Amino acid sequence: MNNIPFLGTGIGFRPEIKSLIFLNRDKIGFIEIIAEHYMDVPDEKLRELEFLKKHFTVIPHAINLSLGSAEGLDHDYLLKLKKLVELIDPPYWSEHISYTKAHGIDAGHLSPIVYNNGLLAILKRNIQTVKELIPYPLILENITYHVELPGREYSDAAFLNTLCKETGCGLLLDITNLYINSRNMHFDAKQFIDELHLKNIVQLHFVGCEELPEQVIDTHASKTSPAIFSLMNYLLSKHRPKGILLERDEHFEKTDEIIDDLLTAKKLIAECSLN
Ligand SMILES: [Fe+2]
Repeated sequence: MNNIPFLGTGIGFRPEIKSLIFLNRDKIGFIEIIAEHYMDVPDEKLRELEFLKKHFTVIPHAINLSLGSAEGLDHDYLLKLKKLVELIDPPYWSEHISYTKAHGIDAGHLSPIVYNNGLLAILKRNIQTVKELIPYPLILENITYHVELPGREYSDAAFLNTLCKETGCGLLLDITNLYINSRNMHFDAKQFIDELHLKNIVQLHFVGCEELPEQVIDTHASKTSPAIFSLMNYLLSKHRPKGILLERDEHFEKTDEIIDDLLTAKKLIAECSLN
């Protein structure tokens, strides 16, 4: 992970904001693409990818590898993912600490795993399979959850620390997911950061969420709140990741919000670089 270059502030590429991205290149050090958007696609999408590669460092972000599946990985999917990662030739790539498939059924959603030794062993076995096939550094992302699953043996931070130590993977810390979980599950997000082995963090995700009276929802559809930026700043006062990336998926017409978020993140990481 030490050889990964500093990338600065980035944004998740979505075709709807292609123009905005190219008009604001001075604010964007790298982009992330959803891996599945470029698997089993017409040549036109692959030409889009080649075009993006000419202008930006491109990080593949996979969603449907399902590292938490007890029955193992979908080998056909894995071969397609390998082909894509090799085509992009990135400094690293990322997936989630979750499962999306079980017993041949695709849930179509990132589902949380229980933070215990059984799931740790499953993740380690699946990640070993992935590493043997895809020889690029892999970083793992924390997701949101809305119920406390029975059988937990680790705190959130302790599980991430152990997982990184035992697999050699880095961490993609989604600051918004951390904020949402801390609000919904009533734990202290700063205490989580204090417990985390920060050297493992390669990249951050951030975006706005929806704060309802009864719970906070991960929508990727609004401006990042001051509370989330404050949490990001707390982390950046202790550790400088290689990149921080805005993961916006809806309401692309609100370009001011997107640019504002990029500028705030750029300022925060620049200040942290000075420390
Ligand atoms: Fe994320």
